[in-house]
Amino acid sequence: MRPGSHAHLKAVPLTAMVVLGAAVLAGCQQAPAAIFRPESPGATAIHNLSLYLLAVAGVALVGVEVTLFLAVARFSNRPEEEAVQTHGNLKLETGWTAATAIVVFITLGLTVNTMVDVTANIAESPPSLASAMPLQSAWPGDTLPMRVVGHQWWWTFEYPQQGIVTANEAHVPVGDTVRAQLESGDVIHSFWAPRLGGKTDMIPGQINYTSFLAATIGSYTGECAEFCGVEHAHMGFTIVVDSPADFSDWVAGQQAPAASAGTDAERAGYQTFTRSCGVCHTINGTEARGKSGPNLTHLASRQMLAANTLENNPTNLARWIQDPQGLKPGNLMPNQKLDQQQISDLVAYLSILK
Ligand code: CUA
Repeated sequence: MRPGSHAHLKAVPLTAMVVLGAAVLAGCQQAPAAIFRPESPGATAIHNLSLYLLAVAGVALVGVEVTLFLAVARFSNRPEEEAVQTHGNLKLETGWTAATAIVVFITLGLTVNTMVDVTANIAESPPSLASAMPLQSAWPGDTLPMRVVGHQWWWTFEYPQQGIVTANEAHVPVGDTVRAQLESGDVIHSFWAPRLGGKTDMIPGQINYTSFLAATIGSYTGECAEFCGVEHAHMGFTIVVDSPADFSDWVAGQQAPAASAGTDAERAGYQTFTRSCGVCHTINGTEARGKSGPNLTHLASRQMLAANTLENNPTNLARWIQDPQGLKPGNLMPNQKLDQQQISDLVAYLSILK
């Protein structure tokens, strides 16, 4: 092989690495990944551990690659020389075994420490929210108990103390500890709001718990972190951290009865809803009592539709009703084949459900 082609070959992976590195850095500049902007003590502990792990992995990567490239450049292509046969190097092997063991044990210690930090707020043996409601005595007063159920591909958020059932958008008061009981309605999902805490699996037939303290007012997105079918990527949720006053307002709004149809269009929409949608969806206080889809009593108060897939506005709501399978293929909502008038009436009715 000629020396020229050799240099060319070596340049390829190096160029690829530089380009890839630049792309990653550019991406970070525009939208830093959520795990790098923690907003709760638990997420901060995970963030700090991640930085340590990235540093260790970075040093190892650079060390290994530099050694590799130097070795290739220095020792390749020497047909005239016979390689020297060696049988081990005690110093070198002891050195790298000891160094690796030390790094692994430091990592273990830091990881266990982080796990203690993250789980410090989770009660030893929390009561099941599904069974009864003796929660206040079992969990300290400054905590908000919540039941979260993962479904293909959306989320139930239930507040047993407040008597609220909603979907895909939870509100919590700033500064309180949220304790969530995690369940699954079908397959394994994983509850993950990266800026608020770590991932916890939701397993059919088993109850898991997580907790987080929402330290800063704002809106935080979460997602399912366990592959659960074709729409796994469209299984998002939002946690809105409110001021105590805003949270009280939200609770009062969610506890209020559903708005009643006023205009002719809204009444027609209500009729269509109970006939075509009520088998799967509930609107509190109406004939619609289906449980297999999200509770829509206060649908219009939510920011997003279809588990953070679409912004919640009348246009998108109409698109969603008209073609749920086109927008989120494989989801369980069927196309009810409504005509344009029925869809427009239905959207008029659903839009008053603030
Ligand atoms: Cu649910 Cu992935």
